[in-house]
Amino acid sequence: MKTALVTGANKGIGREVALQLAKKGFHMFIGARNRHAGRKAAEEIAKQGGKATFLEIDINYNESVTGAAHEFAKIVDHLDVLVNNAGIMMDGDDAILKISDDLVRKTLETNTLGALRVTRAFVPLLAKSKAPRVINVSSGGGQLTGGADGWSPAYCISKTALNGVTSQLAAALPKFAVNSVCPGWVRTDMGGRNATRSIEEGADTIVWLAIDAPQELTGKFLRDREEIPW
Ligand SMILES: NC(=O)c1ccc[n+]([C@@H]2O[C@H](COP(=O)([O-])OP(=O)(O)OC[C@H]3O[C@@H](n4cnc5c(N)ncnc54)[C@H](OP(=O)(O)O)[C@@H]3O)[C@@H](O)[C@H]2O)c1
Repeated sequence: MKTALVTGANKGIGREVALQLAKKGFHMFIGARNRHAGRKAAEEIAKQGGKATFLEIDINYNESVTGAAHEFAKIVDHLDVLVNNAGIMMDGDDAILKISDDLVRKTLETNTLGALRVTRAFVPLLAKSKAPRVINVSSGGGQLTGGADGWSPAYCISKTALNGVTSQLAAALPKFAVNSVCPGWVRTDMGGRNATRSIEEGADTIVWLAIDAPQELTGKFLRDREEIPW
C-alpha cells in the first residue's frame, strides 16, 4: 500500500490533501502537533473509508520530528509521499522595517527549517519507495520574479527560502521528485474567508504532484499543475 505523510494535516489545505490521497488508496499519516485535532482528522478520514493514522509531529522541534519518524517506522517500512504543508503567518507581519528579528526567526523556523527538518528525518524511509516524492507547500508570495509588494515580508522571505530548500533537495536527491507548490489564495484559517479559491482547488496541484505528475518533474515551482518562475 502506498503511504503518505502530510504535516499540518489537522485542518485547512493539509487536511484536504490527506482526505483526497486517502480516497485514492494511500495509507495516510496525519501529521499534527495537536493530538486532539490530529486524531479527530484521522478519524474523519477513516469514517469516509480511508486508512489514516495520526502521527504527532511539531515541525519546530528536531526531537519531535525524529520521534515521529521512529514511530512511523514501527507501523510501515517506507514512505512514498511527504507533503511539507505545515506553515504559519504571524500576527504583525506587515512592514519589513518594523518587524522584529524574533518574528522573522519564528517564521523561518517553521516555514523553512521545519520542511528541511522533516525531509531530513524521513529521507531513509522515502529512499525505500520506488518513486519518492517531496512536496513543499510554498506561496506565490515567495516569488522573486516580479518583485515584492510589501505584503507579509517575513512570511514571503520564509517561502523564498523554502523554494531554495526545494532546489537544494532536488539536487541532493536525484532519484526523488522534490517540488514547491503555490496553492493560490485559499479559504482557510490562514487565507481568510475572502480568498478566491476553495480548499479543494488549493489541494489540487499538491494531489497531482503526489500521484499523477511525472516522476522526472523535480526541482520546480508549480501552480495549477504548471511550472511558474521562482
Ligand atoms: N491559505 C492560503 O491562501 C495559502 C496561500 C499560499 C500558501 N499557503 C500555504 O499552505 C499551507 C497550509 O496553509 P493553510 O491555509 O491550510 O493554513 P492553516 O489552515 O492555518 O493550517 C496550517 C497548518 O499548519 C500547522 N502547523 C503550523 N505550525 C506547525 C508546527 N510547528 N508543527 C506542526 N504543524 C504546524 C497548523 O497546526 P495547528 O492547527 O496546530 O496550528 C495547521 O494544521 C501553509 O504552508 C501555507 O503557508 C496557504
